[in-house]
Formats: sequence, structure tokens, C-alpha cells
Amino acid sequence: MKFYIDTADIEEIRQANRRGWVDGVTTNPSLVAKTGRRHHEVIKDICREVDGLVSAEVVSTESETMFKEGLELAKLADNVVVKVPMIEEGLITVKKLTAERIKTNVTLVFSPIQALMAAKAGATIVSPFVGRVDDTGANGMNLVSQIIQIYQNYDLNTQVLVASIRHPIHVLESALVGAHIATMPFNVMKSLTNHPLTDKGLAQFLKDAQKVPQ
Ligand code: E4P
Repeated sequence: MKFYIDTADIEEIRQANRRGWVDGVTTNPSLVAKTGRRHHEVIKDICREVDGLVSAEVVSTESETMFKEGLELAKLADNVVVKVPMIEEGLITVKKLTAERIKTNVTLVFSPIQALMAAKAGATIVSPFVGRVDDTGANGMNLVSQIIQIYQNYDLNTQVLVASIRHPIHVLESALVGAHIATMPFNVMKSLTNHPLTDKGLAQFLKDAQKVPQ
């Protein structure tokens, strides 16, 4: 399973990259707004920083304008994926961008049928938002496994990117159901290496090592 970092913060991307954890990056308008910088500048900087795909989101809702925005974003770097919201106009845009050989990520997916529609439009990636589904009292991971089942049933090659990940269990379950990609904030990424028994065991080994004659 690939790990993407869900941030527009270049310093976080560098830190995660140094540890070898970054297969790609996802951004959204809220994350870019936090940087206080211009969208295109942020995306260009991120694309220079990583080898993998970088999702950059359009901010219009009408297919003609979304398509133009998508073309501009795709020109920023070879590894840009144009992120488009899961609305009818968005799927029209995905079809047009796909015809131009531009990669797309259909975002804000909350039902398996939406994911089927995104794949039929030619999406490269589909992003179900597990954490936000969990927030409503439903099970976000059921959404992911149903999407994977549907894609397997019909040999659809759209990649399933689990988004809105909030904790390590989301990452574990994404791997167990066979999601292609999990995108997560840097703090979740960092928590994945930790285990209290590792710390306890290491402390004991270091203590005992002091007793070994030199
Ligand atoms: C993914 O592409 C989204 O940017 C992100 O995962 C949304 O996460 P949130 O629900 O924590 O805002």
C-alpha cells in the first residue's frame, strides 16, 4: 500500500520524505489556505520535493471552468493529479481531462455508487473519506471495502485512495482490505512506528547491556 501525506506544508513533506514515508501527496483547498501562499506556487514547490503523484484540487464547480483549471494545474509539473469533486460536472471534467491524458483524483466520495461512477468516467484515483463517514455514525471502512469489491467485480483499474484518515486503525484496515493508497496527516504517519512494548523492551535491553563486561 502506498503512503501519501495529506498536507500542503512543505516542511512536513520534507520531514516525512527524509524518513522514506512519502509515495505521494494530497492537498485540498483548506490545506493550501493554511499555508497563506498562492495555490500554484505551493503545488510547484511540493511537486519538486517528491517523486510521486501530487493531487491539486480545482475550486470551480462548472465543467468548462474546472477543465481549464485542470489544464493549468497539470502544466505545473509532470506529477500533478487534478483533484475534482464528486459532482456531475466534476465527472464531465474527469472525462475531458482523461482524454487529454491528464490524471485525475475524484474527491469527496461518500458512497460506493459514487465511486463506480467516478471509475466509469475514467478517474485515475478515487478518494473515499473514511473519517468523515465515521463522524456521521456510519462505518467509513465499509465504504472502502465495498468500493474495492465493486472495482474487482468489473476489473476497473481506478486506484482506491483512503482519505480523511484520523488514526492508525484506519491505516491498518486500509491495508487489510487492500486499498492501493492511504493518505494521512504527518502526525498519524509518525504514530505508525510507535509501540509501548518496543520502548519498554529497548529500555530493558539497554539497561542489561550496561552489565555486559567490556
Ligand atoms: C484527502 O485527499 C483529503 O485532503 C483529506 O484526507 C481530508 O481529510 P479531513 O476529513 O481530515 O479533512
